[in-house]
Amino acid sequence: YIDQLKDRDTREKLDEIRTAFTYGEVVGIPTETVYGLAGDARNSEAIHKIFSAKGRPGDNPLIVHIHSMEQLEDFTEPLDPKVQSLMNHFWPGPISFILPLKGSMLAGNTVAELDSVAVRMPSHPVGHAILEHVGFPLAAPSANLSGKPSPTDYRHVIDDLNRKVYGVVESDPATYGLESTVLDCTQYPYRVARPGSITKEALENVLKETVDRHVSDSEKPISPGMKYKHYAPRQPLAVIEGGLKNNTHIEADDDKKIGIIAPENCRGFIPEGSYFISLCSSDENYREAARNLYAALRRMDKSDVDLIYIHGFPKNDETEALMNRIYKAAGDEVIKDDHL
Ligand code: TXA
Ligand code: MG
Repeated sequence: YIDQLKDRDTREKLDEIRTAFTYGEVVGIPTETVYGLAGDARNSEAIHKIFSAKGRPGDNPLIVHIHSMEQLEDFTEPLDPKVQSLMNHFWPGPISFILPLKGSMLAGNTVAELDSVAVRMPSHPVGHAILEHVGFPLAAPSANLSGKPSPTDYRHVIDDLNRKVYGVVESDPATYGLESTVLDCTQYPYRVARPGSITKEALENVLKETVDRHVSDSEKPISPGMKYKHYAPRQPLAVIEGGLKNNTHIEADDDKKIGIIAPENCRGFIPEGSYFISLCSSDENYREAARNLYAALRRMDKSDVDLIYIHGFPKNDETEALMNRIYKAAGDEVIKDDHL
């Protein structure tokens, strides 16, 4: 069912959620990045429920969520002062740190049997209140079916996981709309393992030293068959490199309905009869685009279009996370300017 925190006494609801977690249940919770599917990080049965509800491969470790720095001491080695300074600066917030794991408090399947663990302290008021009330760390991957776009609205969680979870906490749409930056601090220099709203430059400004950039899957020498789709709608999706412009020619096939996801100011450039979803007011508004991306992909998925084109944004430090997710959703399918 839908767990409406605002309808019943909050304290009573928090108690119910804590009890559910104590019994090994899993619950969809809001965070400032995307909604998470949470369970007791110490309880391997709860973690097993998370993996099976999502259909997630067991070798992909989960992020452990905490509300206080003291909790870290229970399962990570003492912090490097550099990591400490990043946490002081960016937590609570949209960044996860991969740290060396200590002891056996966390269930083995939470970290996919690795000797490291990714940790995050969310800033979302409701998510944070739940973590504080529960007291123990909660493992939470994004609350979508594996391969689908992450949920930025509680309704997305219900669409994907209804009946597979104890409940979903209803809250506002996510502020950032993309998953947290993941910074690997088990190697030196630190390395961005997944780009997010907190950029490489922002990290370097605090650290006063360089951070290794994220290497996208398409840059890694893997065989084409190994490429996997992620965050993807059911239809084929292609990125318009350089962005949709007034002279962009999109092949219009009579028996195929085209969907286009682009900034509002590109609406005039689309072929007649295609289905347009506005991502943001203009090309510069990449934060708004990030916030709306997954909802747009989900709407296309539910629509009757046969193939989708998405606007490619200019590449820079600020748009790296947005473009990373767009390329993944497209399975690296790109339409270059010279082919248009
Ligand atoms: O914003 C977020 O991070 C959301 C919210 C719910 O907090 N969570 C999220 O979790 O995106 P998930 O499971 O969808 O993504 C976790 C990412 C995966 O790419 C996983 O491989 C990586 O973090 N990860 C987790 N633990 C790791 C570890 N010990 N070593 C390397 N990568 C790890
Ligand atoms: Mg995910």
